[in-house]
Amino acid sequence: MAPGAQRSTVAVGKWRKGKLMSRPLRVGVVGLGYIGELHCRILTQSARAELVAVTDINEQRAQEIAGWTKAKAYTQVSEMLRNEDLDAVNVCLPDLHHVDVAREVATRGIPMLLEKPVAHTAEAAYRIGEALLASGSLCQINHVLRSDPRYVLAHAQSEPGKLGELIHVRAARNSVGALARHLGKSTSILFYLGVHDVDAVQWMARSQISSVFARSVNKFGHANEDAIFVSFTMENGAIGTLEYSWAWPEGLLGGFNQQIELVGTKGAASVDTRMEGLRAVNQTGEMSEDTFLWPEVNGRIGGCLRDNIENFLIAVQSGGPLLQDWRDGISAVEVLDAIRQSVREGREVAVVRRSQGAGREINGND
Ligand SMILES: NC(=O)c1ccc[n+]([C@@H]2O[C@H](COP(=O)([O-])OP(=O)(O)OC[C@H]3O[C@@H](n4cnc5c(N)ncnc54)[C@H](O)[C@@H]3O)[C@@H](O)[C@H]2O)c1
Repeated sequence: MAPGAQRSTVAVGKWRKGKLMSRPLRVGVVGLGYIGELHCRILTQSARAELVAVTDINEQRAQEIAGWTKAKAYTQVSEMLRNEDLDAVNVCLPDLHHVDVAREVATRGIPMLLEKPVAHTAEAAYRIGEALLASGSLCQINHVLRSDPRYVLAHAQSEPGKLGELIHVRAARNSVGALARHLGKSTSILFYLGVHDVDAVQWMARSQISSVFARSVNKFGHANEDAIFVSFTMENGAIGTLEYSWAWPEGLLGGFNQQIELVGTKGAASVDTRMEGLRAVNQTGEMSEDTFLWPEVNGRIGGCLRDNIENFLIAVQSGGPLLQDWRDGISAVEVLDAIRQSVREGREVAVVRRSQGAGREINGND
């Protein structure tokens, strides 16, 4: 099945055992950095969840979050999983550290909301997939654009009946250097930013990226590239580009500048997030801020992150459906691997799909 095709019957896991859970779910969060703290805030504000445990390798951080959430603090994931009877776990670790933790959660059969990207390499992602298949457990990858109304509506406008045959696609995600400095070596522009658009492109195009040719530049000397630009082909014959940058000056309005556009034989669909619908001007300049991803509205975190988390909680309580099959998340990481290889080798690289080989069951071209 192509990424983005309707999967109304995403397999549900053993946890369900034929019963619905109408009570609030006992949830644990692993990784309490930037996004993990937001998960904690949303979970403490949700009627569907009770945040009972939090884990961070940094004990001070774990205690700090435990202080205001009233959850129990841990520094070791295994200890949290052993001691707590959890209905769900949100994994918010840097992608480099996903594989062991995600496999442990999956092996225990605990439903998991795993932050994007699935892992830091396709091989690591396959290992998580193997554990999920073995346990039959539920997993949603936290690709927030799957709940962004602008992207969801553009996805609807991109269906073949409206768009015709897809001709070309363009996706861009630009951010500021401060983000690169903050993240350092813990991740890369490709895995931190790029995965969002690879997933969105494959979802909206209803097709997979088949080959990539990528170039990068690094002038600031951060631990990462300043920008990666990619030219790609798709299995459906469309061509496209991806642009990633975190070289913009800090003054970039809203700190982000992202677009996607799809042009077909019958129509086109596009999203431009540069104006968030908010602008404030003072004597030194103008400002805007996120109004879609995780804005604080009337004291509560809203937006796509909240909607993704709520959808996950509903799926765990009721047995589905999920917003996205985790195999789509692995498919996106396969493309990131090819882009990384193309940058390194300076040539076009075909995306290796386990679906075409021995791992067919992992990537699920069913
Ligand atoms: N969905 C989104 O839009 C979105 C946005 C931002 C980040 N993310 C993803 O969330 C993940 C985390 O990103 P972040 O920006 O919050 O990172 P971060 O560096 O701010 O936080 C990571 C936290 O994990 C902790 N940690 C590291 N290794 C650990 C381990 N083995 N056990 C327990 N704790 C450990 C660190 O101490 C830190 O507190 C990444 O996968 C990133 O791609 C997703």
